[in-house]
Amino acid sequence: MCGIVGASAQRNVEPILLEGLRRLEYRGYDSAGMALVNGGVLDRTRAVGKVQALADKLEAEPRPGTLGVAHTRWATHGGVSEINAHPHTSADRVAVVHNGIIENFESLKQRLIEAGYAFTSQTDTEVVAHLIESYLDDSADLAEAVRRAVAELHGAYALAVVSRDDPQTLVATRSGSPLVLGVGIGEHFVASDVAALLPVTRNFVYLEEGDLVVITPDTFAITDLHGAPIERPVKESGLSISATEKGGYRHFMLKEIYEQPQALTDTWQGRLSVDDILASSIGTDAEALLSQVEAIHIVACGTSYHAGLVARYWLEAMARIPCNVELASEYRYRNPVVPKNCLFVTLSQSGETADTLAALRYAKDLPQGQGYLATLAVCNKPESSLTRESDLVMMTRAGPEIGVASTKAFTTQLLCLLLLTGMLDRDAQKRGHLAADIRKIHTAVSQVLELDDAIRHLAEEFVDKQHALFLGRGPMYPIAMEGALKLKEISYLHAEAYAAGELKHGPLALVDENMPVIAVAPKNDWLEKVKSNLQEVSARGGKLYVFADADAGLNTGPGMTVLDMPHVDDTLAPIAYTVPLQLLAYHVAVAKGTDVDQPRNLAKSVTVE
Ligand code: G6P
Repeated sequence: MCGIVGASAQRNVEPILLEGLRRLEYRGYDSAGMALVNGGVLDRTRAVGKVQALADKLEAEPRPGTLGVAHTRWATHGGVSEINAHPHTSADRVAVVHNGIIENFESLKQRLIEAGYAFTSQTDTEVVAHLIESYLDDSADLAEAVRRAVAELHGAYALAVVSRDDPQTLVATRSGSPLVLGVGIGEHFVASDVAALLPVTRNFVYLEEGDLVVITPDTFAITDLHGAPIERPVKESGLSISATEKGGYRHFMLKEIYEQPQALTDTWQGRLSVDDILASSIGTDAEALLSQVEAIHIVACGTSYHAGLVARYWLEAMARIPCNVELASEYRYRNPVVPKNCLFVTLSQSGETADTLAALRYAKDLPQGQGYLATLAVCNKPESSLTRESDLVMMTRAGPEIGVASTKAFTTQLLCLLLLTGMLDRDAQKRGHLAADIRKIHTAVSQVLELDDAIRHLAEEFVDKQHALFLGRGPMYPIAMEGALKLKEISYLHAEAYAAGELKHGPLALVDENMPVIAVAPKNDWLEKVKSNLQEVSARGGKLYVFADADAGLNTGPGMTVLDMPHVDDTLAPIAYTVPLQLLAYHVAVAKGTDVDQPRNLAKSVTVE
């Protein structure tokens, strides 16, 4: 959701900023821009489209400079155009890049227009540039001008600001949007995400809400918004550059699909003993805390929400704990009732999704006696806002996920939720069985990946289709939903998921020879019911594609193509059956020639409401 990168160094920072933008492109890719300070002049270059369009412009007309800010945009206020692309400037003096939304921009804009400022864009960000410039006139200090400006802002922001009057100083601040400081030798950086800066440093300070940092090549100083100094630790990132590169794969999404056996192993390691699931692995007090849990609320968005829907089946059937799962964007506006001893669980790949974060803050702010027992974040990004603000944290350990369509973050979330179910299950024997099942996940998912070629062939049949239906029952229903979402996101095919038993209550009317129906049918308690539902489709001339257990008794025949899945334990089926649906969406998208890793209109990390 917009990527920010900035640098103050003794060398030309243009290539550093450009590489940073490439690595942040997953956050938005409508347009990109850069402003560099060079010899007392502010040089700005912007381009509509991907970062490569900006790179082409800069190659044709290089703009070296030792101080600069850069941005890749996911449009909120104002359409996609060069004029609305960041950085925004004021009086050719101040340049600002912004991630977030300034909610009171209209009243500020009116005031600034009356003060004589001319606006060139439709963005909320441009007010910030003019506001800072207006304060620079009565204060020579850029940091002070930024402090005074942000005191007037309502909304969410991460900002990085440079001024042509101050050729070594970059000021950055955050409130509601992520920002890290990168510490180099004789150079300092800021960015929305550590991944942007891995080629130049591994040492980071994770800025907190309300922090303001002033960087020069040799120094950095963090203060609060009143100017009081703050100490924050410099931490070394364990991420390697290669973890954020394609490594020979054609797309990040494919690489991330193939990383799942290892990612899933990393997820459970250290969390299982020989015959048990270790609650202590998520915190020293976790065991005592989890033993008090009598209800669970799970809140998340997008793909993460689907993981929550699967978990409800597990938590209720296995641990016998009532569980409610809700979209974060809905949850906090409906005044939910919190049952006694209820655990509030957020699921998020990024840990920065604005809706999920707002839901967590809402849950934490409930009056005493009406609130939750504790909060738990299941998250993929260490040091994210969600992990820092939750009582308990279970990291998914999927490693960096760059493809906008979530894959390994989803399956590792599922595994975390299965582990949580085990931790909450009072029956030691069942916990032992679950621990044994979980150890088989690497083999199960590796076997599913062997279907890749067959799925690639199958995908050809979808290229000229406009719609698709996905069916599943029980915990496989949310997996069908996730399969439909993957297909929508990257191949732009309209896809819907239904609980297979619900088909006859309406969607069956859509079924004809042009409507492919994809079903997931592991060998479980629902199998015979699913088979009957498939019959309902066949009888109406529908074309079925079924991912079924090899022993399910389903065979390819007229109107039905069956792909044999390896046999997996019931508990692991939602994880294993996700993989062929990811591969199907991937191959359909490749065959259609869409932008697999950066599908139109989307962004990976949505840090606005
Ligand atoms: C965006 C992404 C989705 C993701 C959702 C929630 O919409 O495009 O892929 O599922 O945000 O993200 P989170 O980081 O909270 O899991």
